[in-house]
Amino acid sequence: MTSRFALRPGGVAEVTAMHGLLVEVYTDAYAHRVATGNPFASPGSFAERLERHRARPGFSWVGAWSDGELVGYSYGQRPDPRYWFGDELADEHEPLTEMRLFVTNELMVRQAWRDQGIGRLLHDALIDAREAVTHLGLYVRPDNEPAVHLYTRLGYERIGTRQLAYEGAPLFDVMLRAVSKGS
Ligand SMILES: CC(C)(COP(=O)(O)OP(=O)(O)OC[C@H]1O[C@@H](n2cnc3c(N)ncnc32)[C@H](O)[C@@H]1OP(=O)(O)O)[C@@H](O)C(=O)NCCC(=O)NCCS
Repeated sequence: MTSRFALRPGGVAEVTAMHGLLVEVYTDAYAHRVATGNPFASPGSFAERLERHRARPGFSWVGAWSDGELVGYSYGQRPDPRYWFGDELADEHEPLTEMRLFVTNELMVRQAWRDQGIGRLLHDALIDAREAVTHLGLYVRPDNEPAVHLYTRLGYERIGTRQLAYEGAPLFDVMLRAVSKGS
């Protein structure tokens, strides 16, 4: 059964004002990774990435709220495709100049609110408002079963791997989905 919740977008100013709350939700949603002690998974490291991401072009955010509680959120941005793919994968996907890419940087749902369709709805709400996008992308840990399952269901395909230059960062799978014309 689905609980009552509402999806609401937020701009950079709101996201900046909610910084502490967003880190709190991260700490709940990623508790199992935080517990490993890996520096990339730490709330502090996430907080720094969030600050950087929200300054990027095309930054968009959407939250799921229930009775004033933020139960999950997702955000993304419009990176330069070559930068996002990394040189190796970029060379395989030329010409990137015509690609209009929107990437989901984060999607998370508090543990108590999982498996009610909120993750999927957050993803769809985030990308619904994007205009003139030809491709959607994201990085995901290959061992993140719930997320890989969800993204595969949503039509993303694995196109390779990407090692980010953050301390402790895992080898991510790169997933891409073409957006059909008119959608
Ligand atoms: C990934 C995540 C956002 C999914 O959120 P959610 O609200 O539970 O997802 P939904 O309820 O929309 O479920 C989406 C699909 O995933 C499936 N799913 C949910 N939990 C699962 C699990 N533990 N294992 C496998 N599949 C799972 C659902 O059955 C559903 O599939 P279906 O449409 O085929 O039935 C959530 O697990 C989460 O916050 N994880 C921690 C943060 C994270 O890893 N984010 C992704 C980073 S790339």
